[in-house]
Amino acid sequence: MDYAEYLRRLPKVELHCHVEGTLRPATVADLAKKHGIALPTEDVDELYTYETIYEFLDIFRFVNSTVIDRDDFARVAYESLEDGVKLGNLKYREMFFNPTLHTPRGVPMATVMNGLADGIHAAEQDFGVRCFLIADVYRQDSPEMALAMTEDVLANRVPELIGLGMDGAEAPDPPEKFLASYQLAGKAGLRRTSHASEDAPPANITACLDVLGCERIDHGYHILSDEKVVERCRDEGIHFTCCPTSTAVVYGWPDLTAHPIKGMIEAGLKVHLNSDDPTMFRTDIGKEYVDFIGQNGYPPELAKELVLNGVDATWLDDSDKAELRREFEAELTTLDAQLVL
Ligand code: HPA
Ligand code: ZN
Repeated sequence: MDYAEYLRRLPKVELHCHVEGTLRPATVADLAKKHGIALPTEDVDELYTYETIYEFLDIFRFVNSTVIDRDDFARVAYESLEDGVKLGNLKYREMFFNPTLHTPRGVPMATVMNGLADGIHAAEQDFGVRCFLIADVYRQDSPEMALAMTEDVLANRVPELIGLGMDGAEAPDPPEKFLASYQLAGKAGLRRTSHASEDAPPANITACLDVLGCERIDHGYHILSDEKVVERCRDEGIHFTCCPTSTAVVYGWPDLTAHPIKGMIEAGLKVHLNSDDPTMFRTDIGKEYVDFIGQNGYPPELAKELVLNGVDATWLDDSDKAELRREFEAELTTLDAQLVL
């Protein structure tokens, strides 16, 4: 087996993937037809083109207007997990969804959450992949809207729901704006994470950890501009869910050999790789490892370290995490024996 195939076949955990960013173009076309929604182009793949996070977020909203009933949500969750399994040997995911992308257009929260849970169950049955859900605050919403969303999510809780996160454009809206949502989530026993320092200074990482009670950081690239925050996160073993391709496209790091993720690894931070919005960025969880590890000339030892960082960063309890680690280590040993460098 060559190195690219090895990287693609490594067993993987994914903790930074937005279900709404995983819609297959053919599914968007199907759902648009089903619901009589007009698309601006017959070639839906053409929709997935942008240069900034703002353009991306507009298309993200638009393509998801085709996802309406419980079956639609089940279908997109199922296909999303199927793609992860088939393209990158995905074993386990904690998956974001954006409730306020759906509820303001009249979709009940129960439809969103039960539909996603249906798709997760079906994918586990067919492919053995496991998945939990993280509800995301959308940064451009008001704090009142985010709090109402958090209450609604808790009122419609499904067993798969394990956490609260936050996405949207980071620069204009600081983490502290959403303290009430994070406090409520914490009281209700949800785990907490947030996109931070993808497009803002490392002070946002500190605020997420100290004010919002986050345990992980999604992205985090600008941390490198503050050695003190780097030192703290290294000492505390904070995990960073990094996304090479999506940020290469919208944040101007087109060369993966010069991406800040490299500096984060060199600084001793705990990093693993994720696909973020795979279909929308024409990537998949396998390709993220193939491209980032391959283009940087990293050895198998580092690839395996990143994979196992992903396992350590999950919100599984200690015994389930240890079990997942044993499964991964056994599969890695088998793959190592087949690798021809
Ligand atoms: N950043 C900000 N908003 C998003 C992202 C992201 O990575 N993915 C989906 N919405
Ligand atoms: Zn993201």
